[in-house]
Amino acid sequence: MPLRVGILISGRGSNMLALAEYAQQDDVNADIALVIADKPAQGLDHASQLGIETLLLDRADYQNRASHEAAIINALDDAEVDAVFLAGYMRVLSADFCHHYEGRLFNIHPSLLPRHKGLDTHQRALDGGDREHGCSVHLVTADLDDGPVLIQRAVPVLADDDAETLAARVLKEEHIIYPMALGALAAGLLSIDGDQITMEIGELPGRINGVDAPLSWPA
Ligand code: GRF
Repeated sequence: MPLRVGILISGRGSNMLALAEYAQQDDVNADIALVIADKPAQGLDHASQLGIETLLLDRADYQNRASHEAAIINALDDAEVDAVFLAGYMRVLSADFCHHYEGRLFNIHPSLLPRHKGLDTHQRALDGGDREHGCSVHLVTADLDDGPVLIQRAVPVLADDDAETLAARVLKEEHIIYPMALGALAAGLLSIDGDQITMEIGELPGRINGVDAPLSWPA
């Protein structure tokens, strides 16, 4: 049975697309079952164009975070997802939500965690004089951007960078490591118990844009 994946987005959804394009390859044992946005988002149209089921659960239509999250949980559970990938989802999730999907909730964060948790990571990397910046895929726990890291990629910070050029360099790497994490999960290379991850070394199925197959995990 393919791994059934739900993705939550709030915006353009480029990481969602990278995951979807990866999962749609024949030799990748994963299906993107549902993409949910919490506000009208460009990414929903892109997902529909790939034939993926989409749902807008606009947070503005709900009285509070609890009722909004309850709707999201219903939709994800109805779609029988095995794992949930946050891809530019811009609302902090409650501890209850994180516990509901404990061990199967993932996020991509644009920094080399534990540096620069939270927002504006690129500007903060520049302001901090960082020589290296990057991105991390981590398991989501109730503490913001604090769950165990599965994989990271670093990029150099160049002398003439601004937040935009640095973000673009990091985003390219995000589009590689997030599908890799999905591939590792689908290939059974990750065993997760609560917030403990054990990783096996192995080969990932499929190709990721711009990277020659076979991809090795976790490198
Ligand atoms: C990415 O940089 C991601 O790391 C962060 O939000 C951004 C979302 O971009 N959490 P996109 O919607 O995936 O294009």
